[in-house]
Amino acid sequence: MDKENKKIKRYTITSALPYANGPIHIGHLAGVYIPADIYARYLRLRGEDVLFIGGSDEHGVPITIKARQEGVSPQAIVDRYHEMIKASFKELGISFDIYSRTSLPLHHDTASEFFTTLFNKGKFIEKTALQLYDEANGEFLADRYVTGTCPHCNNDKAYGDQCEKCGTSLNATDLINPRSVLSGNPPVMKETKHWYLPLDQYEPWLREWILEGHKDDWKPNVYGQCKSWIDQGLQPRAVTRDLDWGVNVPLEEAKGKVLYVWFDAPIGYISAAKDWATQKTNEARVTDPAHPGFDWKPYWKSPDTKLVHFIGKDNIVFHCIIFPAMLKAEGSYILPDNVPANEFLNLEGDKISTSRNWAVWLHEYLDDFPGKQDVLRYVLCANAPETKDNDFTWKDFQARNNNELLAIFGNFINRTLVLTQKYFNGKVPGVNMFMPEDQVLIENIAAFPGRLEYSLEHYRFREALNELMNLARLGNKYLTEMEPWKKFREEPDRVETVLHLCLQICANLAILSEPFLPFTSLNIRQMMNFTSGSWFDAGKSDLLPAGHMLAEPRYLFERIDDTAIEAQVKKLRDTKVQNENSSEVEVVTGKPVITYDDFSKMDIRTGTILAAEKVPKTKKLLKLTIHTGVDTRTIVSGIAEFYEPEQLIGRKACFLINLEPRDIKGIQSNGMILMAEDSSGQLTLVSPADDLHDGSTVK
Ligand code: 2FM
Ligand code: ZN
Repeated sequence: MDKENKKIKRYTITSALPYANGPIHIGHLAGVYIPADIYARYLRLRGEDVLFIGGSDEHGVPITIKARQEGVSPQAIVDRYHEMIKASFKELGISFDIYSRTSLPLHHDTASEFFTTLFNKGKFIEKTALQLYDEANGEFLADRYVTGTCPHCNNDKAYGDQCEKCGTSLNATDLINPRSVLSGNPPVMKETKHWYLPLDQYEPWLREWILEGHKDDWKPNVYGQCKSWIDQGLQPRAVTRDLDWGVNVPLEEAKGKVLYVWFDAPIGYISAAKDWATQKTNEARVTDPAHPGFDWKPYWKSPDTKLVHFIGKDNIVFHCIIFPAMLKAEGSYILPDNVPANEFLNLEGDKISTSRNWAVWLHEYLDDFPGKQDVLRYVLCANAPETKDNDFTWKDFQARNNNELLAIFGNFINRTLVLTQKYFNGKVPGVNMFMPEDQVLIENIAAFPGRLEYSLEHYRFREALNELMNLARLGNKYLTEMEPWKKFREEPDRVETVLHLCLQICANLAILSEPFLPFTSLNIRQMMNFTSGSWFDAGKSDLLPAGHMLAEPRYLFERIDDTAIEAQVKKLRDTKVQNENSSEVEVVTGKPVITYDDFSKMDIRTGTILAAEKVPKTKKLLKLTIHTGVDTRTIVSGIAEFYEPEQLIGRKACFLINLEPRDIKGIQSNGMILMAEDSSGQLTLVSPADDLHDGSTVK
């Protein structure tokens, strides 16, 4: 079943680790998780050894931006969204073997070790280079902390690591007119040292491995993107960042630096496999303390393992070029066999956007449409952006439910089961009068599994789903043409045969629908008391013997009416109005969260200004003599534009008294006076009550 007839013993299937900074939406599902789940379920049904990996990507700037916006710690953000994402995937039936997370110590250790191995092998180059720096906030601006104009397509909202419009992967210094997301200011350049993976050195190998080796089996969109990057010439890529949230760079000289999120996140797939092995081993040893345990290594290191990465198109460069180069440099891991990336799903004609709330959120869908997991799975697979961007509309969702799932699939099964109840009290009839058209039907049924499998193995999930629906269409056509309801009186034998065969189609639908519609498949099996029948039995027309008793039929799908759809459309319309009324550029003004220990290091006291005078030859500076309650000292402060010296004498204020002394214009300044700055930049003294004794601590 695989090219080169390589014997595949097991499959490692990864699905992009979503950033834990927001919930999952339909774009994620259609692009990544539904196809990955269908593939994993299909392989398991064939009896393959599958490790299907998911998990939360908990580092990177999107997380810290969200934390700043909310004024909470990044850990609080990832804890919240990790649990939410995990639960919603489970409810939708995404059958991960493990849903892990990159804030686990296990992952930090794995990513650190990976870096150290590459470092020790001399695989990095070290460079001190100028990087963008936000002076107002005192921070380097990596990745999404900086926006500007893309040098390739002129999109003026490109990020420092990537332009989402043209998909190009960027360095922050490539941006034209860069601006800090933190302060809105243009950044300055400042020197900093980083470790780079010299991708240029991997170019000949990447050419051979991808451009020659995967010309025929990688999707044209994936192959095309890889070719264009390689042809443009690859550049060394920094794998470390000046940030305080992430996996610490395991080098003494790199204090305060973390691994680039796109260096640690794909290693997260490996950590997830370790997490899986540990959990499975612990579970097994509860009942069998002598259990040998589960090993993650074959899933990542054995050449007879097939590794497949399911991702969206914005992740292609990271999974096809950067991560493989990392794996190659490390040397002990397998490489992906395929990376069936999808294009994007839009929503009602507009790009899905978490920040603009332009999305159908999975957790809200599950609340609004309880029990309808398979409807969403069906619609998103039927309309998956496999070869080009596609659009999700609520009208199409309704039409696919009402006119396809209900009118074709559900209706066929329901008619068959209800007629069997009516004519045969729910007992599978035998075959007594067999006609040539029955033989044609049986041959037709037998051809379905092969076609479905071919499509699934070539990552053509829409095509596979359409084949499944064609089997239901075949059943409907046969049932309608045979008209058992007209023949029951005159030709009961004929009706027995017709319903017998229709029931065989229903059993086939139960088997073949399982990767796509797992809840429905189970419902059909329950209604038919059909517990046997493995994937390899699909195509047969003797799955249910004559005399087998069925259970009570129920409807598989319900009509979705206009009211439900209008409510969803209204929700989106309201979002649009809100977006139009809010400002275009979002500036994250907050600073990173600090601990109480950080805060308590500051010794802030109330005090009195005893004297104030202008510092000669300056416009802004005043020399203040302060009684701090502890001592009397000098503080130089840049407030001359806002206060005349005489306005200050005798005023009470708050002072940071343990700030390291600084020499300002030849005067030693011992501390800082606290001022409040409004949005226009006006500074005002923060005054405590007049009766507070000097030296009272502010905490
Ligand atoms: O684009 C994203 O949402 C990333 N969090 C995907 C990471 S995939 C993998 F490398 F972890
Ligand atoms: Zn661009």
